[in-house]
Amino acid sequence: MSDIKIRQQIAQKAALAAGEFLDLQIKNLDVVKFDLKSKNDVVTEMDRMSEKVIIDIIHSALPQDDILSEECGELKFGGDGRWIIDPIDGTENYIRGYSEYAVSIGYEQEKGKPIIGVVFCPARREIYYAGQGLGAFIGEKPIRVSNKSNPSEAITLISPPFRLHEYAKKYFELTNNIFLESRDVRNTGSAALHMCFVAAGLAEGYLEFGVYPYDIAAGLAIVQEAGGKWSSIGSSKHPFETDSIIATNGIMQEWYFKHAEKVLDKYK
Ligand code: IPD
Ligand code: CA
Ligand code: CA
Repeated sequence: MSDIKIRQQIAQKAALAAGEFLDLQIKNLDVVKFDLKSKNDVVTEMDRMSEKVIIDIIHSALPQDDILSEECGELKFGGDGRWIIDPIDGTENYIRGYSEYAVSIGYEQEKGKPIIGVVFCPARREIYYAGQGLGAFIGEKPIRVSNKSNPSEAITLISPPFRLHEYAKKYFELTNNIFLESRDVRNTGSAALHMCFVAAGLAEGYLEFGVYPYDIAAGLAIVQEAGGKWSSIGSSKHPFETDSIIATNGIMQEWYFKHAEKVLDKYK
C-alpha cells in the first residue's frame, strides 16, 4: 500500500472516531457551553476533546509527523510532512443543531501542497476523502466537480466574514456581482463542507475572505483530486498566505477570479 493511502486511511479512522464522539455528545447535551476566542468566534469543550481524539490516533500511528491543529497550534515532531486539522469546522452550527459541521483533516507533504484530505460530517453521515492520484470519494462513491460553464446556471457558496467586519464591503459587493449573473448564492456555515460540495458537483464555486489553513487544507486536496481548481481571491499568492479562497469546478475558475480581481482593485 502506498504511503498516501496509509495516511489517508489513518486520517479516515481519526475523522470517524472524532465525528462519532461529537455526534454522541451533542445528542446527549441540552445546553452546550461555549467561550468566545474573539469577536463572533466560539469554541467549546468538544472542539478540544475532538482534537485530542484525532491527534492521539494520528500521533500514535505516525509519531514523526508534524501537526497544526486549530485549538492547540503547532506540534513539531521532526517529520517532513504536516497534518492540518480542524476538530470541528462549523462550531456555531454544531452548537445550534444544524447538520453542517465536520471534522476536517488535511496532510501536506510539502508546504502549501495538501495531498490528502478527509472531511467527515456525522449529522449527514457523509465522509469525503481524497489522496493524490487515488481519486476523490464520498463513502465508496467517486466524486467529480460539475461540468457547468455558464454563470447563469452556477450556484456559489460564499461565506460572510463574520469575524472580520472590515472585509464586509468587499464581501457584499463580490456577492452582489456574482449573484446578479448566476442562479443563486448560499452559505451553509462550514468552509470544509463547502469545498467538498464543490468537489461533489453540488456547487460551481466557493469563495471566502478570512479563512485559515485548517479551514481549507483537507478541502484543497479533495477539490483538486475531484478535478477542480483553487486559488486565493484575486491574488496569485497561496490561500494559506492571503487568508482567502476560491475553489471551483475548474471550468469557471477564471470567471470567479475576474469578479474577485475587480472587487479587490476597488477596495485595495
Ligand atoms: C468556520 C466555518 C465557517 C467559515 C469560517 C470558519 P470554525 O470554522 O467554516 O463556515 O465561514 O471562516 O472559520 O470556526 O467553525 O472552525
Ligand atoms: Ca474552521
Ligand atoms: Ca474549528
